[in-house]
Amino acid sequence: MHQEKPYSQACENNKAFILEKLSLVFQTSGTILEVGTGTGQHAVHFARHLPHLTWQPSDHPDNYRLCLPWLEDARLTNILPPAPLDVSDTEWPIPDIQGAFSANTAHIMAWKEVEAMFSGLAERLGTGEAFCLYGPFNYNGTWTSESNRQFDQHLRARNAHMGIRHIEDMEAMAAHRGLTLESDFDMPANNRFLVWRKR
Ligand SMILES: C[S@@+](CC[C@H](N)C(=O)[O-])C[C@H]1O[C@@H](n2cnc3c(N)ncnc32)[C@H](O)[C@@H]1O
Repeated sequence: MHQEKPYSQACENNKAFILEKLSLVFQTSGTILEVGTGTGQHAVHFARHLPHLTWQPSDHPDNYRLCLPWLEDARLTNILPPAPLDVSDTEWPIPDIQGAFSANTAHIMAWKEVEAMFSGLAERLGTGEAFCLYGPFNYNGTWTSESNRQFDQHLRARNAHMGIRHIEDMEAMAAHRGLTLESDFDMPANNRFLVWRKR
């Protein structure tokens, strides 16, 4: 057992609910890119329970090694080594992909980076392939809960470029890049699971 595995309680709380949705969307074999892998808890859980998929973890070059302890402990043959991927880069150091997933990244990235993530994915996904995005979003110009309002304020105080995104802005931005919002699932703790489909 690795001594110092990074740990996120939120990942432990949400991984079963996210897995349920991922298993509906990614039913056939293929390589799934995870953007902003973080601790690696999600990568291990999803790769273990979706053995027909090959999981490609990735994260910002400053952060992509964080998940190694979880990956090394799990020893799963369907997880590839994590890729150092900043979504703003023009070259993405990843293999061909048939789908993508990201959790809790849209409110951390600057809006320009969110746009870059969608542009990069739209370029690499084939027609009909999906990008699943989990996290909190605003609807009708406002927060969906008091806790999300407080979280948003906390993010903006930490860094002016962060903040919970508005679903309407996301849809317009994604549509411009050839990705259509196919499903929007309500998730526990005031989060959403969005399925974007490449036209
Ligand atoms: C709040 S963490 C979420 C981590 C994990 N997905 C989870 O749900 O616990 C946000 C992640 O986005 C990554 N990130 C931020 N900016 C990025 C960028 N420009 N390119 C790729 N990843 C980025 C961070 O390194 C971090 O791992």
